[in-house]
Amino acid sequence: MTHFSYRNGELYAEDVPLSRIAEAAGTPVYVYSTAALTDAYTQFAGAMSDAGLNARVCYALKANSNIAVIRTLADLGAGADVVSGGELERALAAGVAAEDIVFSGVGKTEAEMRQSISAGIGQFNIESVPELELLSKVARSMNAEVDIAIRVNPDVDAITHRKITTGKQENKFGLDITRAPELYAKARDLGGLRPVSVAVHIGSQLTSVTPFEAAFARVAELVRDLRSTGYDIRKIDLGGGLGIDYGDGAPPPVSAYAQAVARTVGDFDCEVIFEPGRYIAGPAGILVTRVIYAKEAEVRRFAIVDAAMNDLIRPAMYDAVHRTEPVRERSRDAEIVDWDIVGPVCETGDTFASGCRLPHLEAGELLVMRDAGAYGAVMSSVYNSRALVAEVLVNGDDFAIVRERQEPATFLGYETFAGWQK
Ligand code: LLP
Repeated sequence: MTHFSYRNGELYAEDVPLSRIAEAAGTPVYVYSTAALTDAYTQFAGAMSDAGLNARVCYALKANSNIAVIRTLADLGAGADVVSGGELERALAAGVAAEDIVFSGVGKTEAEMRQSISAGIGQFNIESVPELELLSKVARSMNAEVDIAIRVNPDVDAITHRKITTGKQENKFGLDITRAPELYAKARDLGGLRPVSVAVHIGSQLTSVTPFEAAFARVAELVRDLRSTGYDIRKIDLGGGLGIDYGDGAPPPVSAYAQAVARTVGDFDCEVIFEPGRYIAGPAGILVTRVIYAKEAEVRRFAIVDAAMNDLIRPAMYDAVHRTEPVRERSRDAEIVDWDIVGPVCETGDTFASGCRLPHLEAGELLVMRDAGAYGAVMSSVYNSRALVAEVLVNGDDFAIVRERQEPATFLGYETFAGWQK
């Protein structure tokens, strides 16, 4: 169920009219719904326990790492999947228990390893032989022993956008699954490492269960193999990737995904770790923007809005479409025309949607782009010396600005002239 719906002629986030938020926080602004985050988390975790799995949901911070969002999920029992020292700091600051944190990513630095070992995180997912060797060295130097998974690359096509496919042999991620037994032996011999887990993640925004099932079946084969040769494999980390409906077709329900997991790895008596990002945060957020100009050109009609590609880069980067709607509700018989929704940045790629079917729009009115809670604010930048976008969290009839808009002057303050220019 959506927590963004029309009431009294305008769009609300839970029980708060978006016009009120826009007035308080300015635009563009991301607005997140606590109820939507809670529902998504509860549905995900519930589907796993219904399927009989001993699941641990480690929310992938990369999707939305605002500390108020993480706190909302941590309060529900979520762990965290982090990919940098910065994300680790956020997870801890938001109250995620260290032992419920998994560190993924292909380029962990020595400093990040030390930081994570000191914090006492639950698991490292290893993606290369040199990384395995370095983690062993760092752990031994700290007299520590850490749980690790080898992230295997199962060579399965996730059938998603090429820029977010990660489980094919030609992708930079993971280690070839056929080499895994050799790597577990190496991990055991190096010292400082406890090879107790297997990890996989094949891509993001998957809209079919089939590739997941193929990948998980290969992981199951490996777990069987490793156990039969004496490894104490207690955890299986299946990554994230479950898609959401951006309005272009329904992905499988989370129950179907859970059943695929149960069919493949359900019988090992392992803790099954999940790293969902988009599924949890995507539908829980919208981007609110104001129309600056309605420009009727020769062949197109443009709504020039105050959000731009620096605030939401997904359309420019992945040809993503975020359903756009006016905040002020129109009557059913209002005329519908074609609009191109564009931002003020000086690039043609700064286009949110072309030929968007909407009623007549006016300068000054508010629009929303839906399903922008994941990979929205986290990927924002200050390109064109624009402000860094603000974020608001709604809870019932209450809301709070959980990231202030950062004005260009703030960033200017970090720059300086070179000595010879002063
Ligand atoms: N675990 C690992 C190891 C990952 O690499 C990712 C996403 C996730 C979990 C979470 O995947 P999710 O459940 O959100 O699909 N910026 C892109 C998406 C990049 C995904 C990167 N990895 C976008 O806007 O579509």
